Amino acid sequence: MQVLLADEYGFCFGVERAVEMVEEAVGHGDTVRSLGPLIHNEQEMQRLGEHGVTTISEPVQIKRGETAVIRAHGVTPDVQRELEEKASKVVDATCPFVTRVQKLAARAAEKDRHVVIVGSPDHPEMIGVKGYAPDHAFVIRDETEVAGLPRLRNPLVVSQTTIKAKTFFDTAEAIKTKTDGEVQVVNTICSATRDRQDAARALAGMVDVFYIIGGRHSSNSVKLLAVCEEQCRKSYLIETKDEIDVADLAGAERVGVTAGASTPQWLIRKIVEHIDHLGKLSDESLTLA
Ligand code: F3S
Repeated sequence: MQVLLADEYGFCFGVERAVEMVEEAVGHGDTVRSLGPLIHNEQEMQRLGEHGVTTISEPVQIKRGETAVIRAHGVTPDVQRELEEKASKVVDATCPFVTRVQKLAARAAEKDRHVVIVGSPDHPEMIGVKGYAPDHAFVIRDETEVAGLPRLRNPLVVSQTTIKAKTFFDTAEAIKTKTDGEVQVVNTICSATRDRQDAARALAGMVDVFYIIGGRHSSNSVKLLAVCEEQCRKSYLIETKDEIDVADLAGAERVGVTAGASTPQWLIRKIVEHIDHLGKLSDESLTLA
């Protein structure tokens, strides 16, 4: 049995950077507290927890002497200010791709232009970006919500970094009906999600079983599962090696593996080694038979 890894999988650049920044702060002996879970992966959160990293839900919970972490999603300028006032140090791990969207929104608002962000209004990244264009920004999910927008002043249209390109461009097109001014459309979708999906799609048709390693609450992992299921009926989203049912591997010649953008390398390695081990066992039992 062969185990094949997708060409792109696991931590995206922004998440990897955030984890490295937190590890560096821990290495300096800081008491590190992340505003919201640093990543959507229970196992990695557990590992960081063993190094003393804890999670808070409100900036008010941070105390002097502690290091506050802004995760890759970013926060509003107000929240950032509050953290800077309360904490002894702030580690700003906002992904640079998100910072770019924040800056674009802030610049447009300074010129009194409207900003339409295509994404989920309750997603932390969207709440953060909206905060950079107070009284000027609207967050809408897709083109069906364009009708609810007021007339727009030379709008800037940007996207949540993880949405589908089609949703973004269809919405941007529909927004043109809402203004007599100029519409500036800037595609701020990050390629990390798409790259992982493309790589999974390329592999799914070649394997008998596909394991997607990722958190059940990680939306990009759930999307990867859907992509794999299109071509490989036996696709499974797993968080740990214990969730692998050996019976699913019976008769499998090729097993595909990919992982969501919040899945750490050490966990992927552990699971791949386990699948390899199971494969060797079944090969041996076939030889004995
Ligand atoms: Fe950044 Fe893209 Fe990851 S925006 S946090 S590199 S998915």
